[in-house]
Amino acid sequence: MSAQAVIDPAELDEVLARHPQGQPAGLVNLLHDLQAAFRYLPEQALERAAEHLGLSSAEVYGVATFYEGFHLKPRGEHICTVCMGTACHVRGAARLLEQAERDLAVRAGQTTPDLRFTLEQVNCVGACALGPLVILDGKYHGSMAPDRLSRLLGKLSDKKGSK
Ligand code: FES
Repeated sequence: MSAQAVIDPAELDEVLARHPQGQPAGLVNLLHDLQAAFRYLPEQALERAAEHLGLSSAEVYGVATFYEGFHLKPRGEHICTVCMGTACHVRGAARLLEQAERDLAVRAGQTTPDLRFTLEQVNCVGACALGPLVILDGKYHGSMAPDRLSRLLGKLSDKKGSK
């Protein structure tokens, strides 16, 4: 089952209203704001962005898919990123990823159907001395072990959603 997200049209209007119409140069900034509002770039938002700035859909999709930081699929409220770079890998990163996949019941690159968690893997974020490393909602957790990761994910999952 794939995760579904519903967009609030009023929120979309509100983000668009903060950006001047007919100014294609503002595209990247607008995409950043849309992603901040929805945690990803919904198709409807991309279409409205194109209209708003006077660009074609293809131009907007071209930029949205060019930058790795933009996401075209719904993302979870919590992002769990396991580093699978060499230094982390030799210290057991694969076991961490397996643990997270078991706990969240998704594979790397997927989002839970309730949109609470997205599980990702990266190849080295330049903090090898901390390995094996997991990044939870932007916070680095070094020397990670599967049971500790499980506890951290459990704590987040017990917390009430923000939306
Ligand atoms: S290999 Fe994980 S931070 Fe470098």
